[in-house]
Amino acid sequence: PLQTDEQVAKWSARHIVDRINQFKPTEERPFVLGLPTGGTPLKTYKELIKLYQAGEVSFKNVVTFNMDEYVGLPQEHPESYHSFMYKNFFNHVDIQEKNINILNGNTEDHDEECRRYEEKIKSYGKINLFMGGVGNDGHIAFNEPASSLSSRTRIKTLTTDTLIANSRFFNNDVNQVPKYALTIGVATLLDAEEVMILATGHQKALAVQAGVENSINHFWTISALQQHRHYILVCDEPATQEL
Ligand code: GLP
Repeated sequence: PLQTDEQVAKWSARHIVDRINQFKPTEERPFVLGLPTGGTPLKTYKELIKLYQAGEVSFKNVVTFNMDEYVGLPQEHPESYHSFMYKNFFNHVDIQEKNINILNGNTEDHDEECRRYEEKIKSYGKINLFMGGVGNDGHIAFNEPASSLSSRTRIKTLTTDTLIANSRFFNNDVNQVPKYALTIGVATLLDAEEVMILATGHQKALAVQAGVENSINHFWTISALQQHRHYILVCDEPATQEL
């Protein structure tokens, strides 16, 4: 653990930059980075932008896949994950538009969209590094409690806990929060070469405990990462208080 969320942001951004810079990209095989939304990674995105501006990294040869997206929220809605990513990261770095992948929660056929996404990930072989956050209840992406640990990208119904937690972005009105989301599955995440989860604040302490010490179980989907060979959990001090 690090002491503060600032240190978590600096450490995680530096780790991403190091991994990108260590990689030798080709036209067919660029660096593939999985990305999250949420409050936790905001500071990491700020750090990444700083490192980009300082000339320490380029995102020209980086392909990204986002973890999840709400269903039925227009892309241009300020709280769509699409808007979040452009506002907080993509608009500030040299990533190429064609290299950005975000699930589309507004198609006619959600199953088809999820299949397409899995196929696209597979077309690159593997995601090199997947960064994620974690919900207070241990969910990863939108793999809510009781999600299958072998799940793939699919539509999920959000739990009441998640609707309440995310209502802070929707005028504190739970009824405005979309009820469904498209999300990568637990197995999609486990397939990545490396997974880095960020957890900051005491409200994440039980999720961190589940992610490190408790038995693997599908109620705390973060626990599945214990099986991953290359899994880093980056925490601040308050997030570790149950360890
Ligand atoms: C949402 C997202 C997750 C995120 C979680 C925690 O449920 N789908 O990817 O990890 O919220 O968000 P925060 O970082 O704001 O606590």
